[in-house]
Amino acid sequence: MSNEFGVREGEIAVDLPAKTDAGLYYIGRIRTPWKQRKDCPKNARESDAVCTVELDERWADGLKDVATCSHIILLYWMDKSPRNLVRQVPGHYGVPHGTFALRSPARPNPIAMSVVKLLRIAGGTLSVVGLDCLDGTPLLDIKPYFASTDSVPEAVVGWHKTKD
Ligand SMILES: C[S@@+](CC[C@H](N)C(=O)[O-])C[C@H]1O[C@@H](n2cnc3c(N)ncnc32)[C@H](O)[C@@H]1O
Repeated sequence: MSNEFGVREGEIAVDLPAKTDAGLYYIGRIRTPWKQRKDCPKNARESDAVCTVELDERWADGLKDVATCSHIILLYWMDKSPRNLVRQVPGHYGVPHGTFALRSPARPNPIAMSVVKLLRIAGGTLSVVGLDCLDGTPLLDIKPYFASTDSVPEAVVGWHKTKD
């Protein structure tokens, strides 16, 4: 990412706005086996590792009925990412793409999402499979995954489909 490795050839960085428009609360932390980004899975389906989500006690009542969900959506904050890149050259693709055509953690608001399988909940700790983030990554939100409305089997990402 550009804050650690510099802007790569073909990438475009912009000046960030002088101030942010909204605040947010970290509601917990995600615990994973990965301490360095290079060791993280590239996406949520690349690893079967069981990870844990530690929800802060304050929000614990919000877990009522969550245990009935087989899958949940986790939103998390990629706290080690630059926020100023609008064009990026992901190492594994090698050509530039617009930030909003990528799932890169580097984005104006470094919000990541994964649909994870929920194994169990014990107190404020959720055990899940399907994460790709560093140990200690801040948690922003938990939502139920509705296959009926969230799944779009015919969806395509054209630029990715033509790659090979
Ligand atoms: C490509 S992103 C995908 C994130 C999420 N599944 C999504 O689609 O929004 C996953 C990559 O982000 C990087 N990453 C993981 N945790 C991070 C963190 N806390 N800050 C910055 N980058 C992180 C790792 O390189 C990991 O492979």
